[in-house]
Amino acid sequence: MSDVTTSGATSRRVLLASAGAVGAGALLAACGSEAPATTPTDGATSPGAAGATGAAAGAGTVLGKAADIPVGGGVIFKEQGVVVTQPTAGQFVGFSAICTHQACPVSQVEAGKIKCQCHFSEFSITDGSVLQPPAPRALDKKEIKVEDGEIKLA
Ligand code: FES
Repeated sequence: MSDVTTSGATSRRVLLASAGAVGAGALLAACGSEAPATTPTDGATSPGAAGATGAAAGAGTVLGKAADIPVGGGVIFKEQGVVVTQPTAGQFVGFSAICTHQACPVSQVEAGKIKCQCHFSEFSITDGSVLQPPAPRALDKKEIKVEDGEIKLA
């Protein structure tokens, strides 16, 4: 999932670079006979796209589809720093994706456990409790809700 984020950021950069090129071209064209029709559109699109993918994940932020969270497992939403698990069918639970040991992001949900590969702490997908130290305490809870099949921050 971070790959998507990275490529999205790259695409944005490419788009901005392209917009610059188009803008330069438009300026040259403006000296001619045609008015630049693309500049206002580019300006309106870029800030909207940046806002939609901003790093701050507040209430109402859509994390993903409920159908993509495996029963007995979970999904790590790295960009938002949230792990969503589904311990039993239809029961969704949210946790911070930051390990309580030394703040590494957890990296895997497997066999009913949320795992941190930094020092191999493991947490329960049900309540975030520590199953294997060195983590000193449970993962922090994140309030989530399911609306129209989507998992959102509450
Ligand atoms: S930071 Fe997660 S186990 Fe150390």
